[in-house]
Amino acid sequence: MLEKIENLKNDALAKIKIASSEEELKNIELEYFGRKAGKIGEILKAIPTLEPKERGAVGKNANIAKKDVEAGIAARYFEIEEEKYASLATSEKIDVTEPAINKIEKGKRHPLSKFMLECEEVFGKLGFEVAEGYEIEDDFHNFEALNFTPDHPAREMQDTFFIENEELKGYVLRTQTSDMQIRFMEENKPPYRIIAPGKVYRKDSDATHSPMFHQIECLMIDKNVSLANLRFILLSALRELIDPNVDLRFRLSYFPFVEPGLEVDALLKVDGKETWLEIGGAGMVHENVLKNVNIDPKKWNGFAFGFGIERMVMIKYGVKDLRSFFENDLRFLKQF
Ligand code: PHE
Repeated sequence: MLEKIENLKNDALAKIKIASSEEELKNIELEYFGRKAGKIGEILKAIPTLEPKERGAVGKNANIAKKDVEAGIAARYFEIEEEKYASLATSEKIDVTEPAINKIEKGKRHPLSKFMLECEEVFGKLGFEVAEGYEIEDDFHNFEALNFTPDHPAREMQDTFFIENEELKGYVLRTQTSDMQIRFMEENKPPYRIIAPGKVYRKDSDATHSPMFHQIECLMIDKNVSLANLRFILLSALRELIDPNVDLRFRLSYFPFVEPGLEVDALLKVDGKETWLEIGGAGMVHENVLKNVNIDPKKWNGFAFGFGIERMVMIKYGVKDLRSFFENDLRFLKQF
């Protein structure tokens, strides 16, 4: 009997040692300790049927075996648990630095929006704040206050879209961001430096014109502002935005809201060759404009300039057809 107990115990311990899962261990537990046919329980139950002198030793050994097997099972449970966590550390390891398998394509800004944001940043460093307005504009802000008299021929120059709606009679789709000069000056006391990027509209459509395009207006009003200030600001900004070697040239021109009025050309490398390209209009703010917004032209003066964003981006990246910006062909847009 004692030998039987010893074998039972050794068998059990051997099985426990190689058990590789909690389930196998549970089965071993049942085999030896199950309420119905547990092998150790059977022996304990059989003690009363033994010879009295045998009972003591059998009972003692059976209890030792029971404890050893129980302890063995408990220890193995613990080991299996440990192994499970240890393997989790390798099987479920996540490398957070690894690139995603399904690459999600990130959206990007449209080249025009991107350039306008760059303008805001560059002019911001030069002390200019951003002013925003409306694309549907009244005659006063788009023309009249900018010194376009009602019969001024320059109104015709701008191929205006007039809004044909009784309620919005007299409104236009703004033809220039210069309306923002008026809107900002009406609301604020000088001195100030602002830029106003935005959409403008003109009846025009070909490889270099679109009925909707973008401009950026720049206005500085202070005391004793000069054309040299204008040149410095514009040149500094363009050197950072377009090309560090850009140079500028001014030609006399005419815009009703500036005096003198200037056409600005930039010297740029195009296909390896230095070329003067017209980039926008500029000038010293006309005193009539200042008077229209109740600013005393004896105390204050300033400059304004405006240029087309599409044209700038075309120059910067060598884009040949302006319409590419609005076709939204990803093959084009992805290049920026
Ligand atoms: N608003 C003018 C245009 O669209 C450009 C301009 C802006 C000219 C500011 C002078 C001063 O043609």
